Amino acid sequence: MTDSNRASGTTPASGTTPASGNQPVLFVGAGPGDPELITLKGARMLAEAELVIWAGSLIHPDVLGHCHPSAEIHDSAGLDLEAIVSLMSEGYRAGRRVVRLHTGDPAIYGAIGEQMDELDRAEVPYEVVPGVSSFAASAAALKVELTAPEISQTVILTRRAGRTPVPEGQDLVSLASHHATICLFLSVGQIGEVVGDLAEHYPMNTPIAVVANASWPEQRIVRGELRDIADKVRGAGINRTAMIVVGDVLHPVETRSKLYDAGFAHGYRSADTPAGDQHDRGGA
Ligand SMILES: C[S@@+](CC[C@H](N)C(=O)[O-])C[C@H]1O[C@@H](n2cnc3c(N)ncnc32)[C@H](O)[C@@H]1O
Repeated sequence: MTDSNRASGTTPASGTTPASGNQPVLFVGAGPGDPELITLKGARMLAEAELVIWAGSLIHPDVLGHCHPSAEIHDSAGLDLEAIVSLMSEGYRAGRRVVRLHTGDPAIYGAIGEQMDELDRAEVPYEVVPGVSSFAASAAALKVELTAPEISQTVILTRRAGRTPVPEGQDLVSLASHHATICLFLSVGQIGEVVGDLAEHYPMNTPIAVVANASWPEQRIVRGELRDIADKVRGAGINRTAMIVVGDVLHPVETRSKLYDAGFAHGYRSADTPAGDQHDRGGA
């Protein structure tokens, strides 16, 4: 199983054992921090793992409580790509159950692409168990619907360019022109610049919130408007592990979804009263 991992989609479901008998390396989403916000599958994979490589600078240590006491655990914070891949490859070849634990969902700023490329080169199979991303945990903390009807039907997950540049056309000023809900990762340390970029397209009274350590016991929320959020965030001393959420969805809800409106018919319910708009409004 080489490139079949990323290209063909023919790999078995997570948790199944390939023909060689060795368990594929598992990239597991740890969730945002609360150890109960890992998936059941992720927790089971951790409990069965003999070798765990975790991103210690980002993941709440309580998540490791799912590991077996005898598991060998490495913090990847001090390791480079080569060392991480060697650990995973050697563990796989030794027939050990290997979990690479990433914060939130591994597919979002998880740098798993480069690890998967190296594993492909080494002909080591792998699978991915998704996780609850911090943008979802932050929305939960804020008790907000990111896709409020008639306000925003689009969520942009992005970051401001820092040491890592963003491709042309994906800079924050360009993205702000859509007036969608924006969730900004990895950017709270540049809160002043973030506000400057957003202010190109959003009025200064646009609501904005910062959630630090969403779902951790030390979670903090700072709410404000574009005009005052930078001072509030600096005043709170928040400069890492925080999500910035901006957009009119943060205003108190005044526009309600028609999905649960008694007059709105859909496939599972007939309308009590005639309704003008019976198109799909989303919801579940
Ligand atoms: C390298 S990215 C990893 C994102 C992760 N894969 C996810 O899906 O949430 C790290 C950034 O995610 C955000 N982040 C991660 N965990 C967070 C949490 N518990 N609360 C708020 N933001 C968090 C912060 O913006 C942080 O700088």
